[in-house]
Amino acid sequence: MAGARVIVERVSRAHGDALILRDVSFAVEPGEIIAVTGPSGSGKTTLLQLIGSLDRPTAGTIRVDDVAVHALTNATSFRRDTVGFVFQLHHLLPALTVQRNVELPLVAARVRRHEREQRALALLDEVGLTGRQHDLPAALSGGERQRVAVARALAGWPRLLLADEPTGALDSRSSQRIWELLTGVRERYGTTILVASHDPALPQHADRGIALIDGRLASAADRSPEGAA
Ligand SMILES: Nc1ncnc2c1ncn2[C@@H]1O[C@H](COP(=O)(O)OP(=O)(O)OP(=O)(O)O)[C@@H](O)[C@H]1O
Ligand SMILES: [Mg+2]
Repeated sequence: MAGARVIVERVSRAHGDALILRDVSFAVEPGEIIAVTGPSGSGKTTLLQLIGSLDRPTAGTIRVDDVAVHALTNATSFRRDTVGFVFQLHHLLPALTVQRNVELPLVAARVRRHEREQRALALLDEVGLTGRQHDLPAALSGGERQRVAVARALAGWPRLLLADEPTGALDSRSSQRIWELLTGVRERYGTTILVASHDPALPQHADRGIALIDGRLASAADRSPEGAA
């Protein structure tokens, strides 16, 4: 399985009179890990949501491999088959156990129960939560919940992982752990990963950073990562 290629061209997003993203263009190669940085309100979440087809640009085009994401009339299969999303506020369902939360995307994808359980347990192992599958999210720490959210985003084996502040509100050790998880995923599956963060240390872990200021691209490096799949 290879990661997805992402091409964002002249994308803008307005809400009423407010221009949230302005003429943003960049490309991401399969298997790259990109840090999307910028101060609060600079448009990081908006950008990830546009790429993941949870929102639509006012102008411009977004391609993920051969899918014209900006023009999708029905994004369900694209989201289910190609994208894993770690939401900024992790969005675990409080009434479902950790394991059922991880299985959720697989229910939508009609993966059979036994296979769902196997994948969920393997992912929980991978994120360091062996034995916690029957707990409810309320019994977990913030960092543990973030790890469940990452496991859930990976359950469908996405070619593109969009992670919105996956280390937000975590101490440096937990955040290091999430980070190791993401780089491990890229190594094994070649997954393309975009991580939004206002953590200034984050770009060190990424192949390169894309910085937003007031909805504009402040810098976009064009070098390819060494060793990306
Ligand atoms: N639905 C909306 N309607 C109007 N304005 C919006 C809407 N969604 C986002 N915005 C505005 O767009 C701007 C960018 O928001 P966004 O959530 O993308 O920023 P962010 O960089 O992710 O910030 P943070 O670091 O706080 O998560 C903000 O000023 C926000 O208030
Ligand atoms: Mg945000």
